[in-house]
Amino acid sequence: QVPSKVKLVDVGPRDGLQNEKEPVPAAVKIELVHRLQEAGLREIEVTSYVSPKWVPQMADAAEVMAGIARRPGVRYSVLTPNMKGFEASLQGKPDEIVIFGAASEAFSQRNINCSIAESIDRFAPVVEAARAKGIRVRGAMSTAVGCPYEGEIAPERVEMFARRMKEIGVQHLGVADTIGVGTPRKVQRAMEAALKHFAIDDLSGHFHDTYGQALANTLACLEMGIWQFDASVAGLGGCPYAKGATGNVATEDVVFMLDGLGIETGIDLDKLVDAGKFISDFLGRKPNSRAATAILNK
Ligand code: HMG
Ligand code: MG
Repeated sequence: QVPSKVKLVDVGPRDGLQNEKEPVPAAVKIELVHRLQEAGLREIEVTSYVSPKWVPQMADAAEVMAGIARRPGVRYSVLTPNMKGFEASLQGKPDEIVIFGAASEAFSQRNINCSIAESIDRFAPVVEAARAKGIRVRGAMSTAVGCPYEGEIAPERVEMFARRMKEIGVQHLGVADTIGVGTPRKVQRAMEAALKHFAIDDLSGHFHDTYGQALANTLACLEMGIWQFDASVAGLGGCPYAKGATGNVATEDVVFMLDGLGIETGIDLDKLVDAGKFISDFLGRKPNSRAATAILNK
């Protein structure tokens, strides 16, 4: 028994490109967003309003948001780690902001330079201000299964972080396996912990594919009734503060699996493959997606 419909958020322009060493021009990022919406994506994580010293690749957030020709019915989300980022994001009129913390202390320190408790204190006014303006708020929880610095993360810590996010008014929780060490049962346990505080319709999975487990983990979540997932076109990406972690599961691979399961996504796989080829050509490499590779070699 799996859901009949799935919503995919393409995080390629943000999670995918944030780790690229060579600058990707804003025009290329904008073109990628356009191609993703053309392929039928209904939510796109566009950029991050973070410190350019920490993540230089996202320094053009304002330019990218301003350059997108918006489509009705598409939600454009952006990462905002603090009030400064949130205020800067407003000019770009995001439909949704993403605050991002972690289930592990060490990752919180490395990624956003503060403890979990401090992060919650920083997020609370951002959530309040966003909701007052009618902007949706998603909370991302990194290292929900494993941490590059602390190792395995117990479901109790996922439960605790989910509770804190709920308490400050976060509407939707994205549970992330940042370094892709999760396997299906471990991911299900993390999701069960998050479900203590968030309804199934307010929960999504965000799986990096470092160990090749992301599709299996996605299926394990579908079997629990979870129907929202992040994925990255061409399998782009990685996190600058999680050494060796590869990109998110490729959107093309998820769509191929969902099509085969008879689950509706509204995404045109051929157009999606073209979008992945566009950005991969720019980056001078092949798409990191088995489905895209197979389709391109046909
Ligand atoms: P900090 O240094 O502790 O911040 O960084 P601060 O408040 O002490 O300020 C220091 C300087 O940064 C000041 O500038 C601020 O103005 C500036 P200065 O006076 O030195 O010139 N600053 C900012 N500039 C632009 N935008 C801002 C901002 N805030 C302060 N929003 C901070 C704290 C959070 C800013 C920093 O640690 C940071 O930018 N971290 C970003 C890390 C990041 O983007 N990581 C990748 C995204 S998360 C991810 O990929 C995981 C996810 O995919 C899920 C998963 O897979 O796990 C979501
Ligand atoms: Mg990520």
